Amino acid sequence: MDLREYIRSIPDFPKPGILFRDITPLLSNPDAFGYAIDEFKRTFAPTRPTAILAAESRGFLFGAPLALALGAAFIPVRKPGKLPYKTRKFSYDLEYGSDSLEIHVDAVGQGSRVLLIDDLLATGGTIEACAKLAQEAGAEAVGCGFVVELSFLDGRKKLGNYPIKSLITYD
Ligand code: PRP
Ligand code: ADE
Repeated sequence: MDLREYIRSIPDFPKPGILFRDITPLLSNPDAFGYAIDEFKRTFAPTRPTAILAAESRGFLFGAPLALALGAAFIPVRKPGKLPYKTRKFSYDLEYGSDSLEIHVDAVGQGSRVLLIDDLLATGGTIEACAKLAQEAGAEAVGCGFVVELSFLDGRKKLGNYPIKSLITYD
């Protein structure tokens, strides 16, 4: 299946000069959505993740069904002030701004094998923040999966030496 057919490109959103890659057509097609989750499952099952860590909000859309499919914990990483218990925080830059992300201090156990999932890799700031939050908690990152990668932004250079899988790449 060519998942590219299910991505809609919107110029100048949310700011002039950004070509926004919209995943909502993929989400609205159960065959395409299921295919994406199956591809991640097939790729990452051999890494034996014990937890899937994904960032608010679009990361949740792929991270949660994949966690169920792999029989792993789902750990939400959220924008500041949203998680109710004690948190760790990490600040990072975006393609169109900057932000911080938080995780519950007890969400990832020492020795957990964490798979990082997001809808899209742009500058890599978001996924780097997720990896740092997991590693500070004593977890090992075993892989990174993205539905879309914007390879011209070189986000991969912020990532570690573990398997990285993007289902669609825009050069
Ligand atoms: C988007 C996207 C990724 C991130 C990628 O999230 O869902 O998480 O940007 O960019 P980066 O590689 O430069 O960090 P956004 O912060 O727009 O939030 P949303 O998921 O709530 O829309
Ligand atoms: N997040 C960061 N850059 C993006 C883009 N170009 N399209 C969709 N989501 C994004």
